[in-house]
Amino acid sequence: MNLLPYQFVGEVVRGFGRGGKELGCPTANMDGTVVNGLPEGLPVGVYFGTAKLDGKSYKMAMSIGWNPQYQNEKKTVELHLIDYSGSDFYGKTLSAVIIGFIREMKSFESLDELKSAIAMDIKVARRGSVEQGKL
Ligand SMILES: Cc1cc2nc3c(=O)[nH]c(=O)nc-3n(C[C@H](O)[C@H](O)[C@H](O)COP(=O)(O)O)c2cc1C
Repeated sequence: MNLLPYQFVGEVVRGFGRGGKELGCPTANMDGTVVNGLPEGLPVGVYFGTAKLDGKSYKMAMSIGWNPQYQNEKKTVELHLIDYSGSDFYGKTLSAVIIGFIREMKSFESLDELKSAIAMDIKVARRGSVEQGKL
């Protein structure tokens, strides 16, 4: 996919507040400028890459889309920063590079299955390669 790598900078805004609690996976929700500025033709789905916050770089796994599990009506861009230990990133500026596509987003039978899928995404993102991440 030659739309990648793709770099963006944006502000972290409040999401629906589910990430940390229900899924044990805190996410930084990006502002609308980022969502609307994504390249036309970039498929919705789960991606990996890197992100920078407060001058520190992290590997990240992210979702782009409508979160079919929750039937969101608003398209969102949400990043999980791997090994980030801060508590609150609302209002902060985040820059990121999307490197590769991992999988399509889907609605799972249960939240546990979504959790397992996200755990696998995070493994792929740690390795930084889809090929090596495939089991
Ligand atoms: C790596 C990653 C993978 C995700 N995969 C899915 C998915 O397959 N289906 C889905 O509905 N949502 C997926 N999500 C989005 C979560 O449902 C969302 O982050 C969660 O509901 C928290 O949203 P909130 O911060 O707006 O509350 C994924 C999020 C991340 C970070």
